[in-house]
Amino acid sequence: MKSEIIKISQISPAQSIVCIVGKNEIPLFLSLNKTEKEYALKQLRKKEEIVFINSYFKCTYIVKVKEGASGYKAREELRKAAAGIKKLIKSNNHSELVIASHSTYKGAVEDFTEGLLLSSYTFKKYKTRDEDEVKKNYPAKLLLYGDINKSELKWLTDLTDAVYFVRDLINEPVNHLNATALAVAIEKTGKSAGFRVEVLAKRKIEALKMGGLLAVNKGSVDPPVFCILEWKPAKPVNKQPVVLVGKGIVYDTGGLNIKTGEYMSGMKGDMAGAATVTGVLYTAARNSLPLHVIGLIPATDNRPGGNAYAQGDIITMYSKLTVEVGNTDAEGRLILADAISYASKFKPELIIDIATLTGSAAVTFGTQAIAMMTNAGRKYIKLLEECGNEVYERVSELPFWDEYAEMIKSEVADIRNVGGREAGTITAGKFLEKFATSPLIHLDIAGTEMLKKDDHYRLREGTGSGLRLLVTFLRRLAADYKKLK
Ligand code: BES
Ligand code: MN
Ligand code: ZN
Repeated sequence: MKSEIIKISQISPAQSIVCIVGKNEIPLFLSLNKTEKEYALKQLRKKEEIVFINSYFKCTYIVKVKEGASGYKAREELRKAAAGIKKLIKSNNHSELVIASHSTYKGAVEDFTEGLLLSSYTFKKYKTRDEDEVKKNYPAKLLLYGDINKSELKWLTDLTDAVYFVRDLINEPVNHLNATALAVAIEKTGKSAGFRVEVLAKRKIEALKMGGLLAVNKGSVDPPVFCILEWKPAKPVNKQPVVLVGKGIVYDTGGLNIKTGEYMSGMKGDMAGAATVTGVLYTAARNSLPLHVIGLIPATDNRPGGNAYAQGDIITMYSKLTVEVGNTDAEGRLILADAISYASKFKPELIIDIATLTGSAAVTFGTQAIAMMTNAGRKYIKLLEECGNEVYERVSELPFWDEYAEMIKSEVADIRNVGGREAGTITAGKFLEKFATSPLIHLDIAGTEMLKKDDHYRLREGTGSGLRLLVTFLRRLAADYKKLK
């Protein structure tokens, strides 16, 4: 269970507390006795970053902000520090825990809390036996002390809720989450958060002639879905919506070009983009973001099966462009392309797609950066990079030159869905660009979305990477809308 966060304006001396300090000072509100205080100061002077004091009736954790770090790096150090002491906190089984700060930067309490919440996530719903680790509890309540305003607190709650939701969806295996189940989860989220959801079923998808989505679905025994999510506030700052497109491959076997060996592991997470888009709409609606946002989610599994699409097939896409299938494992771009052309209907001011699209992005960037390609212009790039640093979901730009589009030319169709071994991440982006009639930002999260081991507060398996980036970006876009125009 996720800890609830509550703002408090008074601390009682008996409460267990985490205090973030910027200097080697012990604030009075910690109510430590003389010996404890001396011990704490001695540890801090020894450059200990965490001092733990067990006073029998309560615990005190003093966390020193890393020296030398400033700005967004200091913020990240604090999130990581929280991840570093989550086990200790858990082992002490607090029902409530105060989080406070003393002579450090504004927002330190929120950053620490965010790190603690994100590193306390677990996915245990299929465990039927209690294990020791499971028995201990994280604090049910985190009591935030200090100058924190209500809307910031709400934002933090909703955003971390959304990360939990996104991780849950990614971690759900395909035998529990096929495309239809994904649509049901999206509808449920729309109802609870207050955004509109429309689900197009297979018959409608056929009537619309979404050739990309239908081709990928051919080997499956489950039908595809196409979900349309909409958050439209009463007075949006934008006239034309921002459209988000998320890849919803609920499982990627590769299809007839089947993935061998270890390459199939983690492919239940090939719908991370879809989960992320849903999480963004959730946060936007919960916080009444004054921006008109539409989410498009094409979803299916990609399998070899009786009538599976095959290498050499020529597909007519929703946009009427024809595509030669060079590899059935390049399925993501086929379903995304249909969604990106469908977006034209809304005359969007900007399209952002987010997808676990190419293994090549993971090879290039490892687990640290989201690959970004765009034709949308510097102002968006700058904002995206800034937001990426702030939440530490950093983006790195790849070239998006037209020469790369030559690699996906076809002899027999308008284009091919693969461009050869070289520049695989970029040619995938160029493929998508052919279907966009508005400026496009393409985010490839193949490297960041699924981890093999914990990386501080980004935990093993689904990380939800891209969610905090996108909601922060949209919030800034809304706030600075006129300035950015
Ligand atoms: N879903 C994969 C990409 C992927 C790989 C995501 C590893 C996360 C981790 C995608 O559909 C895929 O299979 N891409 C192929 C493209 C190739 C056939 C051009 C790839 O990257 O190998
Ligand atoms: Mn694939
Ligand atoms: Zn895939």
